[in-house]
Amino acid sequence: MRFDIITVLPGLLDSPFAHSILQRAQKKGIAEIYVHNLREYSTHKQKSVDDYPYGGGSGMVMTIEPFAVCIEKLKSERTYNEVIFMSPDGETLNQQIANQMSSLQNVMVLCGHYKGIDQRIRDLYVTREISIGDYVLSGGELAAAVLVDAVVRLIPGVLSDETSALSDSFQDGLLDAPLYTRPADWKGHRVPDILLSGNTPEIEKWRFEQAVERTRQRRPDLLEE
Ligand code: ADE
Repeated sequence: MRFDIITVLPGLLDSPFAHSILQRAQKKGIAEIYVHNLREYSTHKQKSVDDYPYGGGSGMVMTIEPFAVCIEKLKSERTYNEVIFMSPDGETLNQQIANQMSSLQNVMVLCGHYKGIDQRIRDLYVTREISIGDYVLSGGELAAAVLVDAVVRLIPGVLSDETSALSDSFQDGLLDAPLYTRPADWKGHRVPDILLSGNTPEIEKWRFEQAVERTRQRRPDLLEE
């Protein structure tokens, strides 16, 4: 799977993609993540990418030209399944969306800044708008990193133990059961006996009950769906 991320702050995305699972996925050749500096596509002398809003108001608006040049260039090289704009106006990212996206080939991700982007970019190029939650970030970059992480870890072969993504919280519509590791007794705080029993069917039953109970207490909305 290939991601092309368009941003005015490429440096902000260096670290998230250079560690852990995202790094491993790229080394294995399962994921390719390219970050494009929008400023390089500006036709202005000063390489500006924003301008004052028509109709007045505070804040600057990102102009269509650099986005259009960059998007058209990428589109001339391959076909994109989605051109996503990270925005608090979008549909809220969830595990189902991440699952759907993990089967795509090529995805472009646009990161906005300042007050926002010219509506014509959204009208002409964007196929999907995604938010990572009901709060406003300074730009779309951190949201793009969250999206890429959530999607890439679901691509088969990325996680060493593939079942570990299948048992994640949300993957089956439930939160995860509590986890324990050694020591079995830490200063009198003991691991539940069932987990030490070696009785796999009973352990699975316990985990399911715990997951349902945790979901009922913390996220009853998930059980209603
Ligand atoms: N850009 C700014 N805030 C955002 C959010 N909550 N989700 C996605 N992109 C954003």
